[in-house]
Amino acid sequence: MNHKKYVKMYHPVPLTNREWPTKEITHAPIWCSVDLRDGNQALYSPMTIDEKLEFFAFLVKLGFKEIEVGFPAASATEYDFIRRLIDEDRIPDDVTIQVLTQAREHIIKKTVESLKGVKHAIIHLYNSTSTLQRKVVFKKSKEEIKQLAVDGAKLIRDLVDPNFTPEQIRYEYSPESFTCTEPEYAAEVTNAVLDVFEPSPDRKVIVNLPSTIEVATANVYADQIEYMCKHLNNRENLIISVHAHNDRGTGVASSELALLAGADRVEGTLFGNGERTGNTDLITVALNMFAQGIDPQLDISNIDEAISVFEKYNKLPIHPRHPYAGEMAYVAFSGSHQDAIKKSFDVFEQEGSKTWANPYLTIDPKDIGRKYEPILINSQSGKGGVSYIMEAKYGYTLPKSMLVEFSDLINKLSDEKQTVLTNHEIHVAFKDTYVNVPEPIKMKFYRIQHTEDNATIISATIEYNGSVKTITGEGNGPIDALCNALRNLLSAEFEISAYHEHALTRSSTSKAAAYISITDCCGKVYWGSGVDVNISTASLYALISAVNRKLMTD
Ligand code: KIV
Ligand code: ZN
Repeated sequence: MNHKKYVKMYHPVPLTNREWPTKEITHAPIWCSVDLRDGNQALYSPMTIDEKLEFFAFLVKLGFKEIEVGFPAASATEYDFIRRLIDEDRIPDDVTIQVLTQAREHIIKKTVESLKGVKHAIIHLYNSTSTLQRKVVFKKSKEEIKQLAVDGAKLIRDLVDPNFTPEQIRYEYSPESFTCTEPEYAAEVTNAVLDVFEPSPDRKVIVNLPSTIEVATANVYADQIEYMCKHLNNRENLIISVHAHNDRGTGVASSELALLAGADRVEGTLFGNGERTGNTDLITVALNMFAQGIDPQLDISNIDEAISVFEKYNKLPIHPRHPYAGEMAYVAFSGSHQDAIKKSFDVFEQEGSKTWANPYLTIDPKDIGRKYEPILINSQSGKGGVSYIMEAKYGYTLPKSMLVEFSDLINKLSDEKQTVLTNHEIHVAFKDTYVNVPEPIKMKFYRIQHTEDNATIISATIEYNGSVKTITGEGNGPIDALCNALRNLLSAEFEISAYHEHALTRSSTSKAAAYISITDCCGKVYWGSGVDVNISTASLYALISAVNRKLMTD
């Protein structure tokens, strides 16, 4: 690979005493969704007007107060959509729509015309200022490009000011491809535009500084933003907005560092749809804030609804590992992760804690309508994950050494299958291996008697080796008695080495689970489990299951 072919596309930022590295994000910015413009223009199949209307309504539901709705001069669909929003009174009073226009006369005229009767709108003027675009696209000097921006601003002002109140229409200016523009020149052009728009406390002007194409690490963008905040005139009457694309995969980081550097507003899209590798993912930025105890001022309590709206209208999938939203975002594979997650759940539940902390989950999935399940188990998963599934999903609390054995079995199964096991497969593997194992000995029924001297006699009818017979045994309880009967039947030496039982809380009928291990004369351990509505029967089944497992391996 010839790396010498590439050179840095950004210009040095003459910033001294940078302040942003010591800052923190403390509150939500003004959010502006550009899904219906930047996002929509990047789709294989752009939205129809009806789809746009539905998407717009959803953005409003999420809590967006500023929504870029299109480029009205670009097509009849864009224009008509904006007209329908206005004419059909679909824009709530506290929501401002934003329309994009280039600095060209006929485009500006059409844009202003599209807004007739609007209650609140932002006219967003842009022209590209980068070194490369000036050279290869516009073939204009710095002075000419600045003039283009100033002329565009004047035309907007002259068309808007007589016809709309300052409350109705605000202005936004973007030096497009800002990140590849010399910072001093970007400030010069923007200040010239601001001289026309005349920002005031009653009509603040939005200066949007796009990372139209990401060409540097996020700290460089932060430097560029801080530089602009310090070199734009009338800063107190400006709203500094950022609009980062994601070419280097750092759109979210760029926007976040830009907030540290003084930005007040963030433009982006749901889940980062947008040209090429997308725009800043506003859902991620918002949830990153949420995860640090900051109210994001967007309602993302039902992330699955947001995903289905996104997928329906954009016809794009969400990556399974997408931050917060991906279907695998709350799935842990590694056993140690699963174990730590479970332990943290348990500790915080016991403590009755009102705050969240989990070693591997940045937020409580429930807060966005998700669950920490199903955990998928693969060959990397340890007993923590298996234990969690068996307990949380199916109500079995396996004794520790049985769990170790069963987890090994699950790892082997997953290895053979070369993929994850579902909860159901794990449950089935447990039942097939340990529970009420029906062969070679099958107990049909039993009777218990107690003698005067406190001994227990069992008489059990079993099917074994194709014949039905009754075996009897005496002991200090039913399990001991059956154990003796089985030893006689099989002429085998084994001892009961562990016994556990509990109610099966997750079961729809109230059943009990028992776990028994037997140890043979060579010290080999065999686990078995029994499940029944009657706890004594469950214990006897557990013993027979353990013995059957021994017989099957003998
Ligand atoms: O990415 C960009 O520069 C844009 C502008 C129109 C703001 O989308
Ligand atoms: Zn963009």
